[in-house]
Amino acid sequence: MNINIYKGEELEGVRRAAQKSAYVLAKLCETVVPGMSTLDVDRIAAEYIRETGGKSAFLNYHGYPGHICCSVNDVVVHGIGRSDVIIQPGDIVSLDVGVTVDGYTGDNARSIVAGGVYTDLSKRLLDTTRDALMKGIDAARAGNRVSDIGAAIESHVVANGFSVVRDMVGHGCGKNMHEDPQVPNFKTLGSSPMLREGMILAIEPMVNAGTWKIEIDRKDKWTVRTKDGSLSAHFEHQVLITTHEAEVLTWPKIA
Ligand code: MF3
Ligand code: CO
Repeated sequence: MNINIYKGEELEGVRRAAQKSAYVLAKLCETVVPGMSTLDVDRIAAEYIRETGGKSAFLNYHGYPGHICCSVNDVVVHGIGRSDVIIQPGDIVSLDVGVTVDGYTGDNARSIVAGGVYTDLSKRLLDTTRDALMKGIDAARAGNRVSDIGAAIESHVVANGFSVVRDMVGHGCGKNMHEDPQVPNFKTLGSSPMLREGMILAIEPMVNAGTWKIEIDRKDKWTVRTKDGSLSAHFEHQVLITTHEAEVLTWPKIA
């Protein structure tokens, strides 16, 4: 385990990348409407990323073919833009955006409901996942352990009758998109790294309405779906550990 501590120039670099990824995600959330294909969403995202002067952190990552991830309904994460997936009113659309600039990477994600037409279930699922992320961030303080983050997330999700995906986890994120430590969204047994000032973590609960089990698309080898076809939501922020509460680097500040 090799956990980076960020300060000075490096920290400023990650801050810039995080702000660019937050800007792109915020703009994309306002852009997505029913009738668009997920490929349309990917192309628009590519344009927004270009505007920032950065590059997609995902494109070509282990061969990933999209600029962002656009994951609809039972797709948990890693949905690739497709011309034959047309977003319908009421669909849950999970958008995941990573931007690399000057060698630093920002990473964040959010689920929205297309056209704003919520059902009782989609509203509860999104609220629960967003609130679980905020509870995880609240637990992300120097002196706590990484495992305290997942414990806070999981207990909120379970209390609301949903389940946390166990096969994919959050991660350190700065000079590389994926750095140590892994940040599970669930309680773990055994030792877990102590959180220290200067660590930068991407915390990203993936929450399913049904079973926590997932399946990877056999053809494209990327698309992750819930095993039972139930709905899924995903929220992610990149945060800096401080001596007090974590600083969220991916709140969009620039318009
Ligand atoms: N935010 C995701 C992650 O943290 C996005 C990775 S998609 C990939 O892993 F295609 F780049 F792998
Ligand atoms: Co991530």
